[in-house]
Amino acid sequence: MVDVILGLQWGDEGKGKIVDYFAPNYDVIARFQGGPNAGHTLYVNGQKVVLHQIPSGIFHEGKTNLIGNGVVLDPVTLKRECGVVASMGVDYKKSLYISERAHLILPTHRALDKASEIAKGNEKIGSTLKGIGPAYMDKTGRNGLRVGDLLDKSFTSQYIKLRLKHQRLLDNYNFQEDISLWEDEFFEAIEELRSFNIVNGEYFINDKIQQGKKVLAEGAQGSMLDVDFGTFPFVTSSSTISAGVCTGLGIAPQKIKDVFGVSKAYCTRVGSGPFPTELDDDMGELIRKTGSEFGATTGRPRRCGWIDLVALQFACMINGVTQVIMTKTDILDALPELKVCNGYSINGEEKSYVPFQMSKVKIDPIHKSFQGWQTDITKIDNYTDLPQKMKNYIDYINNFLKVPVKYISNGPGRDQIILA
Ligand code: GDP
Ligand code: IMO
Ligand code: MG
Repeated sequence: MVDVILGLQWGDEGKGKIVDYFAPNYDVIARFQGGPNAGHTLYVNGQKVVLHQIPSGIFHEGKTNLIGNGVVLDPVTLKRECGVVASMGVDYKKSLYISERAHLILPTHRALDKASEIAKGNEKIGSTLKGIGPAYMDKTGRNGLRVGDLLDKSFTSQYIKLRLKHQRLLDNYNFQEDISLWEDEFFEAIEELRSFNIVNGEYFINDKIQQGKKVLAEGAQGSMLDVDFGTFPFVTSSSTISAGVCTGLGIAPQKIKDVFGVSKAYCTRVGSGPFPTELDDDMGELIRKTGSEFGATTGRPRRCGWIDLVALQFACMINGVTQVIMTKTDILDALPELKVCNGYSINGEEKSYVPFQMSKVKIDPIHKSFQGWQTDITKIDNYTDLPQKMKNYIDYINNFLKVPVKYISNGPGRDQIILA
């Protein structure tokens, strides 16, 4: 049996915290897509940790953590991160497994990411510059190198061949930076990677399922950044939705039971691209400040706005979300008034769906206002004690989405979560 936790917005919904919270109920925690563009924040014994490559179950003793075939893996980031978790007492060599089919992010992928963004000028995606797009391009272009290739004697010659191909592309971009230091780090890191538990991920996970073990698939990014269904071209390069769990781990769709969709009580986006409910004013600034809305991977300020129920409903539909988990509700505690977007006005016509070219049409959000609860909810630990005004807000969202908000997160801490 497999359950999924994934983001319903543009990423950073708080997936890391939620996976860490639910991990004790599962045997295996598996990342199925994305790479070090992800930044998943957890608080472990009060200490903040940001995970980019390692699944967020790593701090729970006795759990198996798998980096699936759908992930793109940067050995340098992985090495660094393993150092951090080891310093916190985790014996990761015992609990971390990596699919041999996961594609490697090479130093030249990072260089190509940067060169491509510079070339796009004003139309840049706002990529995290971690090499995600170029690594997935080499996967679908059938050129990439995989973790399993590291164990092959011909790895270095395969690397050199691909390196030359990349150099020609970099020359076309007139990319001048010296990446030899990145390559030194890379070769050091792959030396270590060879000693990890490199497995045939699809047999590994299906065997576990057969034995009755419970699997939690951890999404990265968010549904609105999905390469097919997001705000293309301002998206990432992987399938961030529940369908990605099947291709990213090698499991059949019937094995998936619950899909937990994580959404903030408001909305953020980092990087370029359409964001209909963005608040480019004092209110946006207030939410950014109160919510410490700065990227966990790049430190960039996140764009902030009201919750977008049109986009959220779309995300629930394409993912088959069975329950919504609402995070960062406490960030709205002090507001006298809050709003939800329950429709889009496009060329003066009211629409209730996400249009094809969200980046090409002008969308004016239609808002409904709610009275703020103006109560500190961070210490409340049960639904009954939550303020009625907050319950009104959540009830409206429940009715709109027709998917229940089952959990309400009211702080970054492991236990700050309330069952509705
Ligand atoms: P992820 O990428 O989806 O895992 O999310 P990030 O870690 O990038 O960003 C979420 C941020 O919100 C992190 O700093 C979390 O510690 C924090 N966070 C998560 N849930 C809550 C919550 O309910 N309240 C507050 N105040 N912070 C939260
Ligand atoms: P987590 O897992 C928020 C955004 C980037 C950029 C676009 C493409 O922490 O939620 P990429 O590096 O993938 O080529 O960037 O996607 N992006 C994220 N935004 N959270 C993330 O991950 C993101 N990963 C990528 O800002 O707009
Ligand atoms: Mg994040």
